[in-house]
Parts: sequence; C-alpha cells; structure tokens
Amino acid sequence: MAIFPPAERVWWKEPVERSEVIWVTLALVWALIMFFMMPYWHFAGEQNLSNEAYKITPDAYAEKVEAEVEKYTVREEGDTGIPVVRPPAGGDAYQLGRLWEWYPIIELVKGQSYRFHLSSLDWQHGWSLLPENINIQVHPGYEMVFTVTPNRVGEYAVVCNEFCGIGHHTMVGKIYVVEK
Ligand code: CUA
Repeated sequence: MAIFPPAERVWWKEPVERSEVIWVTLALVWALIMFFMMPYWHFAGEQNLSNEAYKITPDAYAEKVEAEVEKYTVREEGDTGIPVVRPPAGGDAYQLGRLWEWYPIIELVKGQSYRFHLSSLDWQHGWSLLPENINIQVHPGYEMVFTVTPNRVGEYAVVCNEFCGIGHHTMVGKIYVVEK
C-alpha cells in the first residue's frame, strides 16, 4: 500500500531482483527487434511506398487535372457523368481529392508503369486503395507522386480514410486496371 512510506527509505540501493533483470532484458530485446523490422520491411517486404512530395497550389493542381481530363477522357460514367481518364502508358496519371469525391476515374493498363499524382483542392483527405491497402495522406498545397505498375486486372476502390466532414463516408473513387 502506497499510503505509508516504504520500509526501507533508501530503496534505490537495493540489488535488482533477478526476475526484474530478465523482464527488462526481454523488453529491450523485443524493442530492438521491432525497431530493426522497420528498415527490414522497407527493403525486403516491399511494403512502404517510396513517394515524393512537391509544393503546388490547389489551383495549379486543378489545372493539371483538367488538362488531363480534356486530353485523355475515354468515356463518362454514372448519373453525374464522371470522366474516365486513360493516361498514356509510361505517362502521368492525375487524381484529385475534394469535398467529397476522388476525381476523375483513372484507367490503367496492366504491366505498364505510370507516375501517379495526388493532391487535394480543399481539405486533408486520406487516399486508401482497396483491396490493396495502400494509404496516402493527401493535403492541399502538396502533390504526392509515386510510380505504380499495376499487376492485376480489376476494379479498385479509392475511399477516403481521413475524416473530412459531413460527406466523408460518400467520398469514394475508382481506378480500373485493364488488360490492354
Ligand atoms: Cu475526404 Cu474523408
């Protein structure tokens, strides 16, 4: 009970209990294993993205997206007519986040590499690619860029995983990967 002072006032000169030494050693070894797993997974696990970030104004980014939409739209989808954009293989793909959508839909070809760009026009959003579980924070004022080479054909969902207001749960986008 901590109501009373310890019987031995000078307790810090007591020898350390053997079981305590064992526990401290185990905790330290485990902490070191966890620590070195981080660089290990980066190189051996192919899990962490190597992305770049550049400063850009929301207006300038919106212009890039609009230029892409104008040039590479192949069709439109849904009631709102959201454009499906097919950037050239080896080229740049631009998608933006804003309250509350990911725009436009991007169509990529399997086995081709693209420079994928992301930014936000207003708020902080979370770009989460499902079912791949790739997550990128998307901020206004910053352009995130990474190289992607899709290896599976299909329809991928982009959901926002950063709470961004009343329409957050409706902020869903799409990426298609096609055979050719
Ligand atoms: Cu955008 Cu939540």
